[in-house]
Amino acid sequence: MPRPENPHLIDTFGRVATDLRVSLTDRCNLRCTYCMPAEGLDWMPGEQVLSDDELVRLMRIAVERLGVTDIRLTGGEPLLRPGLEDIIGRVTALSPRPRLSMTTNGIGLARRAAGLAEAGLNRINVSLDTIDPKTFLEITRRDRLSHVLAGMAAARDAGMSPVKVNAVLMRGVNETEAVPLLKFCLAEGYHLRFIEQMPLDAQHGWNRGEMITAAEILSMLGGSFELTPFPAARGGAPAERWLVDGGPGDVGVIASVTRPFCAACERTRLTADGAVRSCLFSNDETDLRALARAGARDEEIADAWRATMWGKLAGHEINDAGFAQPIRPMSAIGG
Ligand code: GTP
Ligand code: 5AD
Ligand code: SF4
Repeated sequence: MPRPENPHLIDTFGRVATDLRVSLTDRCNLRCTYCMPAEGLDWMPGEQVLSDDELVRLMRIAVERLGVTDIRLTGGEPLLRPGLEDIIGRVTALSPRPRLSMTTNGIGLARRAAGLAEAGLNRINVSLDTIDPKTFLEITRRDRLSHVLAGMAAARDAGMSPVKVNAVLMRGVNETEAVPLLKFCLAEGYHLRFIEQMPLDAQHGWNRGEMITAAEILSMLGGSFELTPFPAARGGAPAERWLVDGGPGDVGVIASVTRPFCAACERTRLTADGAVRSCLFSNDETDLRALARAGARDEEIADAWRATMWGKLAGHEINDAGFAQPIRPMSAIGG
């Protein structure tokens, strides 16, 4: 199908990507078992990672020419990117100013939350799969639960609102944590979302039969809370939400596998080494870093980005027989 003249990131299924997710680094200081092996991964060599100027240029092109309105910083662990506050300041100075959020594991957030908010960061999502220190150590292979909890509180105190919490449940590891996690988040004013585990781990150990499904999560929560569908429209958000015990507290479930939301997807992705991906699960990507380093003009880069998104597939195909996991793991794509 020929692509119509349109400056925005349209695709052949009528979707428009306005939400850019940028991986700032593939490094991480935790070793969650569902993400990477204990010894870590071969990190990207420094010269392959976009410089601050290259990164800000690509985000500027997205905002000025491609209609991107929301930017989420991810990793790896984005707090490990040197000069993060400066990057945030430069992104929020773009015009029109994008809404800026970040997904982090929360290590080191306690002492940086106020500065991040001051630099312009609007919202934060923290990954937390348990509030039990022993289980935290078992999942992340690091004894850092108290650091994460302090980081979340600091983000809330710095006015980043709402603070969202992402939890992945795993059978035999933290499946009994669903109710305690929700009680904790309700008490602290955090917005908890449970995520179905996706086949994106570096070890390729994902097993569909072992995955805890959205239906199971809802039935576990239903034993302790009364859940009613959230009244507001969901839009392109991955989480389906429920009011807990009549509200105002709520809980979300991101059912990427059993109830895919690809038809409403508004996302485009940029990796730390400058590749544009139309989907978490894409098998091909476009190397914008090579274009930029070869001296391409802004509009040439914008055109390459548009062409990539025009080729976006209908969905992730996890549920199809021939599904092949992408070569890049989640930590090198961005969550
Ligand atoms: P907000 O609702 O705007 O706060 O963003 P979000 O829900 O996208 O935030 P976050 O980056 O924390 O993502 C939450 C989880 O949703 C991730 O950990 C992924 O598991 C899942 N997710 C994020 N993006 C995608 C996507 O594009 N496709 C699918 N299938 N899952 C995604
Ligand atoms: N499936 C679902 N979510 C995952 N995350 C990391 N790996 C997976 C996976 N395989 C989540 C983390 C974090 C976010 C970046 O993605 O828990 O919240
Ligand atoms: Fe969008 Fe791909 Fe995620 Fe589906 S899996 S929601 S198409 S990025």
